[in-house]
Amino acid sequence: MKKLAVFASGSGSNFEAIAAAIERGQLEAEVVLVVCDRPGAKVEKRAERFGIPVLSFYPKSYDSKADFENFILQQLNDAGVEWIVLAGYMRLIGPTLLQGFGGRIINIHPSLLPSFPGKDAIGQAFEAGVKITGVTVHFVDEGMDTGKIIDQDSVRIDEGDTKEDLANKIQAVEHLLYPAVIRSLLQEKNKR
Ligand code: GAR
Repeated sequence: MKKLAVFASGSGSNFEAIAAAIERGQLEAEVVLVVCDRPGAKVEKRAERFGIPVLSFYPKSYDSKADFENFILQQLNDAGVEWIVLAGYMRLIGPTLLQGFGGRIINIHPSLLPSFPGKDAIGQAFEAGVKITGVTVHFVDEGMDTGKIIDQDSVRIDEGDTKEDLANKIQAVEHLLYPAVIRSLLQEKNKR
């Protein structure tokens, strides 16, 4: 059983989609730790409901990113984590975690990358007036949403959709896509 850590900063609905897929037997993996850089975020309560331990920390209480990433790395290693799954973790991953987990960090982003990287991708797509946007799952490198794309799914922006309608459509797609991509990724790696 592959051991995952999910990193989140906010609501954690993607974390929940992954944990629920595991519970339903649709994804053979185990989330052994949730890492949260915003103590008090809703994801903490969701993790509690699944009985999954949470490592919450205040980045500002550390001198540098390397300091808090070293602390996280230690906890990940202690918990036997094999893959880092970013799910709304609103922070760039630094060299410490990238080196510690070379090639085993993935992220979900709410646009069809390389369009609309960075913050508020849904708002960016909405303002741009595109008719098709979507969701991307990609490997994480040192850039902002620049790593190799693993899979994507599209979402149509219909006439009359509000930004909130779009956000709901995107999240519904994310909750199906992310567990499915993780499943194929883990199966692929098992074959090697
Ligand atoms: C998701 O829509 C995810 O794609 C986005 O944050 C949201 C988190 O929602 N991530 C990014 O924008 C990363 N650049 P959640 O906390 O409910 O899973």
